Amino acid sequence: MIVLAGFMGAGKTTVGRLLAAELGLPFADLDLLVEGGCSRSVKAIFAEDGETAFRDIELQTLAEALAGPDRVLALGGGAVEHPGSRRLLAPARVVYLHVDYAEALARVGGDAGRPMLARSGLEGIYRRRLAGYAEVATLTVRTGGRAAKQVCDDVLTGLAGLPSGDPASYPH
Ligand code: S3P
Repeated sequence: MIVLAGFMGAGKTTVGRLLAAELGLPFADLDLLVEGGCSRSVKAIFAEDGETAFRDIELQTLAEALAGPDRVLALGGGAVEHPGSRRLLAPARVVYLHVDYAEALARVGGDAGRPMLARSGLEGIYRRRLAGYAEVATLTVRTGGRAAKQVCDDVLTGLAGLPSGDPASYPH
């Protein structure tokens, strides 16, 4: 299991798909697992139930995903907000894809499917989350100005350099 964390626009889904293909593992996106479980979009869950309810569903879905089959799992950008999620992630192999705030915004633009983009004080939320990402990260890879393929290669190199060695043989 390789978990990808990072702010919106860090490239978790794009890099995660490449990484999964390289390692011959399935890929899963936590947002899509949440949406599948609720039969509603993330946007609709935020609009109808609010962020706190979304975080609870996200936590439950994360617990199920971590207990599930070996794969590359991309988190939502705010998954580290919940202390319960951080606890679940503590023993996991988590790659934090770091992106600067300005670059993150440039990448995601005005995506209407990402309700957090409409929040005031988003830069403060970004800064607050940095500690959460750092707390759960086994490995940090900077994505600034780099193509997804380069980031994927950096992740593979970084993972191979960990004491656990070969990424493909990392324990579940
Ligand atoms: C969120 C990020 C989104 C999604 C939801 C909330 C956030 O995931 O989970 O809109 O709080 O940053 P991405 O990081 O994949 O956009």
